[in-house]
Amino acid sequence: MAFNRRAHFENAENTPSNPEVHSPIGEIIERRFSRRGFLKGAGSAGLGAAAIGAMNPLAAAIAAEGGNLDRFAFDEIPHGVDTSHHVAPGHDAEVLIRWGDPLFADAPAFDPHNQHADAQERQFGYNNDYVGFVPLEGRLDRGLLVVNHEFTNEELMFPGLPGPQDEHDFSGITAEMTEIEKAAHGLSVVEIRRENGRWGYVQDSRYNRRITPRSTEIAIGGPVAGHARVRTDVDPEGRRVIGTLNNCAGGMTPWGTILTCEENFHGYFLGDATHHPEKDKLARYGVPGASYSWGRHDARFDITREPNEPNRFGWVVEIDPLDPTSTPVKRTALGRIKHEGAATLIAEDGRLVVYMGDDQRFDYVYKFVSRDAVNTADPAANRDLLDDGTLYAARFDAGGRVTWLPLVHGEGPLTAENGFASQADVLIDTRLAADALGATPMDRPEDIGANPVTGGVYVMLTNNHKRGEDRVDAANPRAENLFGHVLEIITEGRHTATENRWDILVRCGDPSRGEVGTMWNPATSENGWFASPDNCVVDARGRLWVTTDQGDKWPKSGTADGVWALETEGERRGTGKMFFRVPIGAEMCGPCFTPDDTALFVAVQHPAADGAEAFPGHAGRSSFETPATRWPDFEEGVPPRPSVVAITRHGGGTVG
Ligand code: FEO
Ligand code: CA
Ligand code: CA
Ligand code: CA
Repeated sequence: MAFNRRAHFENAENTPSNPEVHSPIGEIIERRFSRRGFLKGAGSAGLGAAAIGAMNPLAAAIAAEGGNLDRFAFDEIPHGVDTSHHVAPGHDAEVLIRWGDPLFADAPAFDPHNQHADAQERQFGYNNDYVGFVPLEGRLDRGLLVVNHEFTNEELMFPGLPGPQDEHDFSGITAEMTEIEKAAHGLSVVEIRRENGRWGYVQDSRYNRRITPRSTEIAIGGPVAGHARVRTDVDPEGRRVIGTLNNCAGGMTPWGTILTCEENFHGYFLGDATHHPEKDKLARYGVPGASYSWGRHDARFDITREPNEPNRFGWVVEIDPLDPTSTPVKRTALGRIKHEGAATLIAEDGRLVVYMGDDQRFDYVYKFVSRDAVNTADPAANRDLLDDGTLYAARFDAGGRVTWLPLVHGEGPLTAENGFASQADVLIDTRLAADALGATPMDRPEDIGANPVTGGVYVMLTNNHKRGEDRVDAANPRAENLFGHVLEIITEGRHTATENRWDILVRCGDPSRGEVGTMWNPATSENGWFASPDNCVVDARGRLWVTTDQGDKWPKSGTADGVWALETEGERRGTGKMFFRVPIGAEMCGPCFTPDDTALFVAVQHPAADGAEAFPGHAGRSSFETPATRWPDFEEGVPPRPSVVAITRHGGGTVG
């Protein structure tokens, strides 16, 4: 199999155990997090006051309209693969911002043949993943886009490399290139505006910011702050880290901050673990993953020279995008895993619940419940809310019960005798603690979507071809799960409960091929099914949208990745519809709606990269010189550029 950076992360032998408003923040809380505001936003979907109080008002509303209501008012696009993107008729999909676009008044223009780290730090980063939208000054036509830059593809970024780089051969990578790679990681905060119906970014906005693993100081908060296991030569107090790594998906809090998730951090470390004092713990996380050469030029990414540095990554990081001078904080109470995303909502008793997945084969689903209630009147009062609470791992039993197992020091097996001397140990070694508690090993938990009205929580389980007949269970029912599934946690509004119910919403793949073992609503067309669900979002009308990441397996489905609508309620529950498609080699990330659903922002990640060998008319793998597509510029000499696309309806109105 061809080398692929993500495949390299994933295949590592690291699974040993198994319009205007008056108050933007108020508006966000109303629309995104509370049942009451949600129903207001859902008014055009036929919801009335009579539905309020029903256990599942969306289903009740659909039933009132005849049960078979199609809530997605668009015509599907077909499956397929080509060099560009496609969106459902009646919509526009325009590139909003690209890798290398200048973010500041003094930032240099993008010049891929003459790259410098200092220039990259002033430009939009690489491989956009999570996208969050924070309204500005009470308006919905003006806001901040917060975008993760998960990783880099050197062979597509830099001219002249012989091919993809890995631990066997970093020979083409110079020290300057590693600095450019670091500068291309992290996040961008950028102001965007809608003018004459079109979204564009503001180059010199005072809000614009780059956060990178090269230069941004980040605080360690919560129970792990100051612990001996996070102290290093450059940070003897264990309270300050330069940067955040492999920021995959994320989430938004009701008080307007962004949660960004550190996923495959293991890949940035080199060195020899043989004599490392925490050798077994490192192994559970796949450290050192040796996907990047940074450790050759920077001691902190070499575990032989800086043994504690890996413990300082794998966290959820909270960022206040409205204050460009603020110090982001690693919220250690949410655990240390390969964090995919963070789906937040305000629970029935006012506390915050965060649902999270640990993206690796046989790893777990988690939720965090804050100790204190969210203060919806005073956003600033929630500043350190995420430092205190209870983290739980999920056990999915046959019969449809999910039990939430608390990761609390001193309870059950989480004692000093078992290697957990304190809550800090439980959190740094979250995976080992969840192993000890008997959480259910899942088929790679990616993003999670939470619907505040129905209480439905949707877990994207992307795939797992290594489960085998002997490890099949009710929640992971396929021995060779090439196409993934979507599991629903049915909370009935009881988000803080230690027991809920669960069900499978769809088993993905081609329903016309019986041997695949799919499960879709029969209303799903030949274009409506998908494979390898990854990111997702619930819009203001309570509709679920799913994006996919098949990697180099896309030839098995015959379609590039994209955005699909997926009905969760009524007679059409389990029906998919294809809405958007990415160019060859890309994956689809970051679905994010404006609070009024008039714009959908999506992140096209690593165009040209995955499975280029199988793309008709393209010989071999993609490189800077010979990419399978030069999307979105299509100019000779300009490499493909990961970009955020803004999708709107012709003439305005609700997307989809
Ligand atoms: Fe970064 Fe699990 O995707
Ligand atoms: Ca990704
Ligand atoms: Ca993902
Ligand atoms: Ca993925």
